[in-house]
Amino acid sequence: MCGIVGYIGKHDAVPVLLDGLRRLEYRGYDSAGVAILADGKISVRKKSGRIANLTDLIAQSPVAGHVGIAHTRWATHGGVTDANAHPHSDQSGRLFLCHNGVIENYATIKEQLISEGHTFKSQTDTEVLAHLIGKEYDALASAPGTARLVKSLRSALTQVVGTYGIILMHADAPGVIVGARRGSPLVLGLGSGENFFASDVSAIVAHTREAVYLKDFDIAVLGANDFEITSLLGGASGYEVSKVEFSADDVSKGSYAHYMLKEIHEQPETIRDAMRGRLVREEATAKLGGLGMTPQQLREVDRIILTGCGTASHAAMCGEYIIEALAHVPVEVEFASEFRYRNLPLPKDTLVFCISQSGETADTLAALREGKRKGLRVLGICNNVASTIARESDGGVYMHAGPEIGVAATKSFTSQVTIMALLGLMLGRIRHLSTTEGLRILDELEALPGKVARILAQSDHIRAVAEKYAHAKAMMFLGRQFNYPAALEGALKMKEISYIHASGYPSAELKHGVIALITPEVPSVFIAPEDSVFEKNVSNIEEVKARKGPIIAVGTEGCDRIAKVADDVLWIPECPDYLSPILASIPLQLLAYYTAVHLGCDVDKPRNLAKSVTVE
Ligand code: M6R
Repeated sequence: MCGIVGYIGKHDAVPVLLDGLRRLEYRGYDSAGVAILADGKISVRKKSGRIANLTDLIAQSPVAGHVGIAHTRWATHGGVTDANAHPHSDQSGRLFLCHNGVIENYATIKEQLISEGHTFKSQTDTEVLAHLIGKEYDALASAPGTARLVKSLRSALTQVVGTYGIILMHADAPGVIVGARRGSPLVLGLGSGENFFASDVSAIVAHTREAVYLKDFDIAVLGANDFEITSLLGGASGYEVSKVEFSADDVSKGSYAHYMLKEIHEQPETIRDAMRGRLVREEATAKLGGLGMTPQQLREVDRIILTGCGTASHAAMCGEYIIEALAHVPVEVEFASEFRYRNLPLPKDTLVFCISQSGETADTLAALREGKRKGLRVLGICNNVASTIARESDGGVYMHAGPEIGVAATKSFTSQVTIMALLGLMLGRIRHLSTTEGLRILDELEALPGKVARILAQSDHIRAVAEKYAHAKAMMFLGRQFNYPAALEGALKMKEISYIHASGYPSAELKHGVIALITPEVPSVFIAPEDSVFEKNVSNIEEVKARKGPIIAVGTEGCDRIAKVADDVLWIPECPDYLSPILASIPLQLLAYYTAVHLGCDVDKPRNLAKSVTVE
């Protein structure tokens, strides 16, 4: 949420920053801006709307220099206007700042600054922070320059409440960019004769794969050839130089029309990667070494809490069904935003899993910290290996799905559910599952990638179905048992990218109110594979048909009953009930994708959204 890039070095900063912003656009696309330092003066260009608007502005009114900061915004405080676009300056107009996060006490500070004669150009909390740092800077008697800038930053940061990943520069300190983080990610990219700041390494991976991930309270001073990291809490701060695992090619669309389509098609591979090295045939189980727990410790777990937001919370719900079915361990799912403020009874043998693709979602991170504060073992299930959740958890499981750029989560969902199945198998084998049962589950897991590829091969058929219903007034997504969470996920995909209102329910809930919405203009998507509740689903389908509601079904290949009862069927291969949400989610992702494309929606950047929600 919001993207930040900074550059200092031998090249012109503008193309580097614009390229970085384009790669970060998925994190926010309300407005964008750059500030460039040259000849002791900072020039700013900023514009509401997409980065293309900023590029046009720079083409009309060029700017160049070797030091610069840039930002792409997802609006929190203040509307989507040019004035509210970052970077923001202080009162002197010599200090500029880009910010990701929320300054919660900005209103009080602003009031105080106004009473002291400060004037503001925007409604943002960020501009208040810029003025506060500038005020501290002006109040210091020491010589203008880097040391004074860092001192004023420290002093300002001790006065603010909230979250920030910030980078700033001052015309008095032309040889450095300064960054700080608390709650919002910030990384240094190390080059040769050039260095970078970014909120996400994907912005800079085309230039360097050497990265230093800052920790909360770190303050970094970045020159073209050196850097220094200290802590706001005092003294130097330790750091590690990490090698970025992916390349610039991994964050490109390749030949696909959209990132979302590319990521949907990557799923045979990403599901395989989620299992790679974790299936142990000799022991008929899954091994998840990253948990850092012995079989004895895992045997003692008597309750599991799965928490996350959005799609990750749907994966958690799948996990509840899967782990309870395979391992007979009680599982509860909590939205991370609820968990953090709820005073749940948490017996000591409770294990908490925080599920997050980005590993930076503010609510999930807060849930992690709340769990740890209560003395529980909290594990992460993350895709981003360098993320805050991955680093702060007591252990966990990486998805290894590669960068997910499309705002609509796709491959991360199937990786998360696959990991839920691995957990179910592992915990089940420690408890009551026999070797034979374990081996059968392993066979089914190994067959998944091939089955997903078979579904993807039906893309043309799914596109035709999507186009047939694309002008629906609303859509219902219904499923039972393991596929109730898949219905929720199908509805979320449909509404977030096509803007068609869609709701997910357990099929049987229809007659308790939902059925009132059924008309010929409102299709129902039933996830009805040939499982233990197939007949029940068919009865619910008949109820909808009796009210003239069109039926799209996700059905098991070769199932005549579903072909007869539904208007259109999206086929999935036969599989055990507990793995069916993985297969069912694939045609639903494609259904949402092709509907949105047909309606002319911006699939990778749906309105009002951003990838990685780093504010509460
Ligand atoms: O990075 P996370 O997995 O923590 O993100 C959680 C949600 O913000 C995310 O899944 C969101 O709901 C997606 N837009 C859904 O497609």
